Amino acid sequence: MKTITCTAPVNIAVIKYWGKRDEKIILPLNDSISFTLNQDEMCARTTVAVSPSFTEDRFWLNGNSYCSVLFAVFLLLVYSIVLSRAYISVRRRASKRKLEGSIEDILNWHVHICSVNNFPTAAGLASSAAGYACLVYALGQVYGVEGDLSSIARQGSGSACRSIYGGLVRWYKGELDDGTDSVAQPIAPPDHFPNLRIIICVANAGRKKTGSTDGMRQTVQTSRLMEYRVKESVVTRTEAMMEAIQDKNWSTFCDLTIADSNEMHAVCLDTFPPCVYMTDTSHAVASLVHQYNEVKIARGDLNHKVCYTFDAGPNACLFVPGAVVKEVLALLLRTFPPGPSQSPTEYVKGIPAQSATLSKELMSLGDEDFEGGRLKYLIHTRVGDGPRLMLDAESSLLDHTTGVPKPTNGTA
Ligand code: ADP
Ligand code: DP6
Repeated sequence: MKTITCTAPVNIAVIKYWGKRDEKIILPLNDSISFTLNQDEMCARTTVAVSPSFTEDRFWLNGNSYCSVLFAVFLLLVYSIVLSRAYISVRRRASKRKLEGSIEDILNWHVHICSVNNFPTAAGLASSAAGYACLVYALGQVYGVEGDLSSIARQGSGSACRSIYGGLVRWYKGELDDGTDSVAQPIAPPDHFPNLRIIICVANAGRKKTGSTDGMRQTVQTSRLMEYRVKESVVTRTEAMMEAIQDKNWSTFCDLTIADSNEMHAVCLDTFPPCVYMTDTSHAVASLVHQYNEVKIARGDLNHKVCYTFDAGPNACLFVPGAVVKEVLALLLRTFPPGPSQSPTEYVKGIPAQSATLSKELMSLGDEDFEGGRLKYLIHTRVGDGPRLMLDAESSLLDHTTGVPKPTNGTA
């Protein structure tokens, strides 16, 4: 039996991917740019095992067993299709290359795959990006695939291609019909903006109403505003963003990030019927960030601005310079206190951080409603690297003799 275990990160786009020019092989209408998040706080972990003794392909996700990766008709249709598509693509590319040192043709062996996420799945926190990147990276290791993996991960879920790399990553939409030039590439290392922190404000960790795939399809079909985004605004904004990144111009980076998130949600609202992802709480977080930035701007302290971005869900992702993270946490805790039964340590997950004492000026920020529990919890994290290969046997989710999930990994 050959077994490989990998972890892969979540990524959060600052220039959003929203809309496809080809649904089958997932080609986007515009380039996008993202930050890869640190895997200590949020990651997918996947073990792939191949063996001549396996009698079928099997897949387990977060403790649920699915019978076959390739032909599982009982899986959610979309799920099995995208998974198979990524899987076949890796196998096909591997078969073009002679596998060194392998006596048996492992391409013909059945595969067992087990994956877990250490954060909520399908809740607008980019589990699909981490999950598919991890799957493709692990399969790539098993079959000895060389070269670009991002174009394969892209076919599982578009945003997954950006999770193949760490730091700041750009996914080029490409021009070709076969998608070979629609790849992700790293554009800056994780410490490009030194000591940058990320705070995810989880307003709802439940399954979202309209998934990204359906939402963006409806937008492309019905929104006139989307035509303007694709032809004009997102193109110029992407180039401005590249310049801001190159120049390490944090203030402009913040403004562009906020503008692109707002534009994505504007085209969602312009969709017929509208796709509504942000809630009153989301808007309250956005408003707090603007109030905070006004204070910083008034003081000429542009390097300590904060920015927000929202994916297809109500959860704000805040990019916060390390120097003000305690202050921002304090502000969030004051404006969005934990629910009555929640301790501060349960409420702020991830990197431990004490919150600062707020100045009088910052105490006056926030809307009128300081009710507890509006946010479910916060995740405090930072920028991170790309997928990792786990070499220790303990990391494996599958038993090395039977090839079925170990009972200890929550994978019943
Ligand atoms: P999210 O906002 O979390 O990305 P989506 O609804 O877009 O939510 O995607 C969730 C889907 O991604 C899951 O239903 C599953 O099909 C896939 N997925 C999530 N995590 C993994 C994983 N670790 N391995 C394989 N697929 C995964
Ligand atoms: C709002 O990558 O989940 O997070 O390609 O249909 O699987 P599919 O969509 P997906 O969409 C992500 C949309 C987004 C913005 C982004 O990550 O760029």
